[in-house]
Amino acid sequence: MKQPIDKDGVDPAKVPQRLLYTGAGMPGIGLGTFGSDRFSGAQIAEAVKGAAAVGYRHFDCAAVYGNEALIGEALREVMKAGVHREDLWITSKLWNDKHGEEDVIPACEKSLKDLQLDYLDLYLVHWPFPNFHAPGCDVTSRSPDARPYVHENYMKTWRQMENLVEMGLVRHIGASNMTIPKLRLVLRDAKIKPAVNEMELHPHFQQPEMFKYVLDNGIAPIGFCPIGSPTRPDRDKTPDDTVDIEDPVIVLIAKRLNVHPAVVCVKWAVQRGQTPIPFSVYRNEYLGNLRSTVTEPLTDREMRALAGSDRNCRLIKGQVFLWKENQTWEDLWDPNGEITPA
Ligand SMILES: NC(=O)c1ccc[n+]([C@@H]2O[C@H](COP(=O)([O-])OP(=O)(O)OC[C@H]3O[C@@H](n4cnc5c(N)ncnc54)[C@H](OP(=O)(O)O)[C@@H]3O)[C@@H](O)[C@H]2O)c1
Repeated sequence: MKQPIDKDGVDPAKVPQRLLYTGAGMPGIGLGTFGSDRFSGAQIAEAVKGAAAVGYRHFDCAAVYGNEALIGEALREVMKAGVHREDLWITSKLWNDKHGEEDVIPACEKSLKDLQLDYLDLYLVHWPFPNFHAPGCDVTSRSPDARPYVHENYMKTWRQMENLVEMGLVRHIGASNMTIPKLRLVLRDAKIKPAVNEMELHPHFQQPEMFKYVLDNGIAPIGFCPIGSPTRPDRDKTPDDTVDIEDPVIVLIAKRLNVHPAVVCVKWAVQRGQTPIPFSVYRNEYLGNLRSTVTEPLTDREMRALAGSDRNCRLIKGQVFLWKENQTWEDLWDPNGEITPA
């Protein structure tokens, strides 16, 4: 059966693909599915169907987003409409309260059941910190059970991630919210090395060193908050945060292309070599984002100007993962080039 695409959609065969070290191709743009407390699961499931109809094949899901069962219904309809499973790229993520050796496989099985799939294309350890905090809690809240990164423990979790590949439940495994010193140890000790690292990447937070490190090590970077997450929960905003879509360089390029500045952020991301996973429930927005991957590239001058727009402004700081008093969120990101001591 021919795969159906809306008339104004984009042929998925034309969308850039990222070659992973396994030889598999991953669609070079995905749809984010985190509703940021603002959008319901039903709205997001509707967006998944709409996005598939305009040509998206990659969907970035997670158990903690609380909407995998609704997305599973949407994916079933997408496949019923003629999209083949092997043409879809579905990611899910292991939440922080499921790092225990006995918890990893059941957590993945639950996501598979909710998503109504036999296998995931990619399963990520969502954060390297194994602590529970209630969804929606304030950034000032601290869990008494919070724990630092302990490499031996992460590797116990990782072994179970490797088992998922061996069991055929998962095609690729990856990390998220990592740092260079943590990844260095994982690369040293993993039997199956991470195929991707999902990390915050947008023009105001380009992480050049980390970006280069993952590419140099054969790990594909997936960029979250590619637009600077303008709709992120208020609890995740701080007064020093900058706004990518108001950046004069981005606004100027958007004017030239006659698109929203958000589209420039997505276009830049794909052209730079990361896989952005922009979120939107609005058809004109997610279609515009997808189209940007197949139109005339940004000029070298524009790419240089955008490289110069970096503000080193991390938006998802992870404050709730702090595990002891008198720490700042920077400690979570190993600012001294070594894992912050426990
Ligand atoms: N691994 C992790 O730890 C992690 C962390 C955070 C996020 N993620 C993933 O990354 C995804 C994306 O991040 P995000 O949702 O925080 O932020 P984002 O994609 O940077 O921003 C999403 C917002 O940008 C606006 N937007 C999108 N396309 C637009 C367009 N063409 N024109 C105008 N505005 C546009 C929308 O705002 P309006 O609704 O106002 O139009 C939308 O709500 C998430 O959904 C999730 O899947 C992963």
